[in-house]
Amino acid sequence: TILIVDFGSQVTQLIARRVREAGVYSEIVPFQKAEDAFARLQPKGVILSGGPASVLDPGSPRAPQAVFEAGLPIFSICYGQQTTALQLGGAVEGGHAAEFGRAFVSVEAPSALYEGIWEVGSRHQVWMSHGDRVTRLPEGFSVKATSENAPFAVATDEARRIYTTMFHPEVYHTPDGARLIARFVRDICGCSGDWTMAAYRAAAVETIRAQVGEGRVICGLSGGVDSSVAAVLIHEAIGDRLTCVFVDHGLMRAGEADEVVSLFRGHYNIPLVHVDASDTFLAALEGVTDPEVKRKTIGKLFIDVFEAEAKKIGGADFLAQGTLYPDVIESVSFTGGPSVTIKSHHNVGGLPDRMAMKLVEPLRELFKDEVRKLGRELGLTDAFVGRHPFPGPGLAIRIPGAITREKLDILRKADTIYLDEIRKAGLYDAIWQAFAVLLPVQTVGVMGDGRTYDSVCALRAVTSVDGMTADFYPFDMAFLGRAATRIINEVKGINRVVYDVTSKPPGTIEWE
Ligand code: XMP
Repeated sequence: TILIVDFGSQVTQLIARRVREAGVYSEIVPFQKAEDAFARLQPKGVILSGGPASVLDPGSPRAPQAVFEAGLPIFSICYGQQTTALQLGGAVEGGHAAEFGRAFVSVEAPSALYEGIWEVGSRHQVWMSHGDRVTRLPEGFSVKATSENAPFAVATDEARRIYTTMFHPEVYHTPDGARLIARFVRDICGCSGDWTMAAYRAAAVETIRAQVGEGRVICGLSGGVDSSVAAVLIHEAIGDRLTCVFVDHGLMRAGEADEVVSLFRGHYNIPLVHVDASDTFLAALEGVTDPEVKRKTIGKLFIDVFEAEAKKIGGADFLAQGTLYPDVIESVSFTGGPSVTIKSHHNVGGLPDRMAMKLVEPLRELFKDEVRKLGRELGLTDAFVGRHPFPGPGLAIRIPGAITREKLDILRKADTIYLDEIRKAGLYDAIWQAFAVLLPVQTVGVMGDGRTYDSVCALRAVTSVDGMTADFYPFDMAFLGRAATRIINEVKGINRVVYDVTSKPPGTIEWE
């Protein structure tokens, strides 16, 4: 085990991720609880994270002194470097507020930290945090690498195995950072590197059991990967004290509802309440054309239906959600300023306040690709865990203008064919998200010997890392031709197909 002492950096979870990638188990503990955790976990090494405070502020966080006295390897990053310097008798001087920036470090002396990775005399890109600075190193320490603005970019005490960096090795912009962290946890701390998703699963199950006790949990299933993985994991932990509720709003893709129901009831035998609320939703959406009104109508009804179902099964003590780590970061405002609502995203985020249930969020520490791995570990198929994201409001936001059952049927057919062609071409996994949109526009066509006057279908496919920015997918024309021909021939009601070549920004991924 590696203990990660968190001083509140926005990227502490990335340290844990890098440690996991190295096949080593770690626990992140807030600095206030680090002393107990250190005694409890008996770690083989400790990583001190960055953080927003200044070590010069009165009352600013410190690492437990016991950590320094135990003789274990320590890796101190950014704020961790400063508090390490202070706590071991060095000096720190104030700078300006912490901010990130690209920098280049020059390696001036060897260190066990980068043995086999960086050579003396070489130069490497890192992501540096500017702020307070170490001005005098504690006894036993010496500078190993510098950058223009950071004379102590890497400073270590090789004998005591304490390694400090002013830069952040855990972020993507420090290209060799993952290797440095792996080197630390495996070679220096001596962790074996055989820790796997199977071990994560077992640990997560224990954590859920400890949190939930004898309580009951309710989980809203969306059909997506995250809520499904969360539900399967929780079921493994507490069995039938978990109830899943799947609210079918009638805006699902073809076969989606059946797939979820049979997976949960048939394959996993997890108690599932399947509510067919499509009449209610479609009635409420009748004649609604404004995208925000659509979203809000669906979001509110969803909560109503979910609440009613929760009441029917006698309530629960906990609400399970498939919140991922990026959702956690994005929900925190770093600027402090109000941000503009581009779209009202609908998920079950509005529920907890109203329902007074505690939250169980077993995926809070994970990133999307790790959730997929965990899903596979839990026995979900590749096809299921590899699914493209699907928005809470479903097909409603892929039919600009008023929604009708007829339009939904047409769109489902077109969407199915489009995705079928994408799978056949072997492109599904290369694309972040692909879907058809049914436009409220009719155009003239000719089919056989007759005139048609039917709807236009737009196809969309994007690549993205996190859905925040996206590029349209560059299909070859032959592919688009095949998909278009099939859609027009097989779907009554569509006589023209166009491809959307808008990136995000300035577009968004969905059309509404
Ligand atoms: P946009 O359209 O905002 O979409 O570029 C970014 C990503 O979020 C998905 N999306 C949603 N997901 N509830 C969700 O759970 C929503 O209301 C919602 N709106 C958009 C969208 O499919 C894309 O993956």
